[in-house]
Amino acid sequence: MNNAHPVIGWEKELPVPDQYQFNDYLSVRDGRLYFEDLDLAGIFLEDTHAKQLGRALPSPLEIVYLPLIENRISAMRRIFAEAIEHVGYGGQFFYTYASKANAAEEIIRTTLKSGAHHEMSSTVDVDIAKIMIDRGLLSADRYIICNGFKATRTLYADNILQLKELHDKLVPVIEDLGEITFLMESGKQFDVGLRQKSYGHHNSTEEMDHANSRFGLDLESMWKAADYISAAPNLKLTLYHAMVGSQILSSEDFVRWLTPGMETYARLKQRHPDLHIFDFGGGMPVPMTLDFDFDYAAFTRALLTAMQEICDRYGVPVPDIMGEFGRYTTSEHGAHLFKIVTVKDNNSKLPWYIIDGSIMSSFPDSWALSEHFIVLPLNHLDKPFQQVQLGGITCDSDDVYPPKPSHSPLYLPVETEDLYIGFFSIGAYQEMLGGVKGSKHCVLPEAFELIIDRDNDNSYQFEILQGQTPADVLRNLGYRV
Ligand SMILES: Cc1ncc(COP(=O)(O)O)c(C=O)c1O
Repeated sequence: MNNAHPVIGWEKELPVPDQYQFNDYLSVRDGRLYFEDLDLAGIFLEDTHAKQLGRALPSPLEIVYLPLIENRISAMRRIFAEAIEHVGYGGQFFYTYASKANAAEEIIRTTLKSGAHHEMSSTVDVDIAKIMIDRGLLSADRYIICNGFKATRTLYADNILQLKELHDKLVPVIEDLGEITFLMESGKQFDVGLRQKSYGHHNSTEEMDHANSRFGLDLESMWKAADYISAAPNLKLTLYHAMVGSQILSSEDFVRWLTPGMETYARLKQRHPDLHIFDFGGGMPVPMTLDFDFDYAAFTRALLTAMQEICDRYGVPVPDIMGEFGRYTTSEHGAHLFKIVTVKDNNSKLPWYIIDGSIMSSFPDSWALSEHFIVLPLNHLDKPFQQVQLGGITCDSDDVYPPKPSHSPLYLPVETEDLYIGFFSIGAYQEMLGGVKGSKHCVLPEAFELIIDRDNDNSYQFEILQGQTPADVLRNLGYRV
């Protein structure tokens, strides 16, 4: 990152110039912020989209912009196809969606329609896969990768055995030695993966072995597991899994930390010829702020070149490459829009702009991990700006943005009459961590949701999901209303 602080929005007192492009999907037209061709303020104010929708929608509002998911998936598949061609790589690429980032129906439906394979981590994930198989969206040609702990006789382990009846291309990834037993005893023919203990920034297998991580197997256990699998008549070792972290912004580091895993893959391949997939897990970085700088093509070429070199050295063919893309797939399609309901100076160092919702329960990573997200006004972009701080409408002193202890300045228009703002790149993990429905901090009802897609003519299609009513919240809490 070149900047001393993450860039979360406009950083000047001057108005934003017309046609200004904040990134590849957010731009300014006539003082309004557009999400591709969608005039965001026009959803609330009695003009453009409000007319199309038949009414102005209430704020706060969650935006689910499905075309961006398709766009990101096809972009990454293109990057890998070009890199494979460029370095003369002898294997394929499998784009897999890590459903833990966002398991909403419209998201899973869109990733599958866009051709992604599917990764999961719990028993309800298996139920989701069954629904998608039933609907013909999770077709027989797609891999289903089962990560996560799946001890014998747990709901997840039993559900995986049932799923195998419906879908053959299923690869449980062994997280712990004990997990081999239920697969072996099932008598069903299974392709199996092994996850090496790799989470963290390690330069050697020895360092990986000593990491304080609950995920995956140390090297000795990997060899043992591989031998058990080879000895079982119904199991075949086909996939190696290593994940080294999340949001690693240097291609060089990312590839370097994956290198001990690539070596382990090559050594395993020498003894276990059915092995053919190297799964580097998740962690592909994604722009959650405006200063993002990561060259996906350079990373991909470096990864494939390193793999070629290592496999050459060990005298084995290169593997197919799989990535489990969670944040990358779903971060940018999600936005959460609010109205500024009060402006208060309160003798504070910067004026407080109060939104009609909660920052901490809508974006838990901002509150818990000081994570930054993009924040921009939806209207009045052609007017002067001032530095401000945002407060949620809860009574909690931590419900603020920029997150504590950030040094990123936040500028919003001085004009606050009917001012709307948006948090952007919040589509991965935030909703799943904050929970869907239920009852939230300070009993704030959940926002309405607007699901946006494009039809074959590229025109917008809208679906409105109702937010919670006060009665919904009260009923959740046991009040008989
Ligand atoms: C095994 C596994 N795969 C994939 C992912 C997705 O990671 P990301 O959202 O960084 O792509 C995770 C995230 O925790 C994970 O644990």
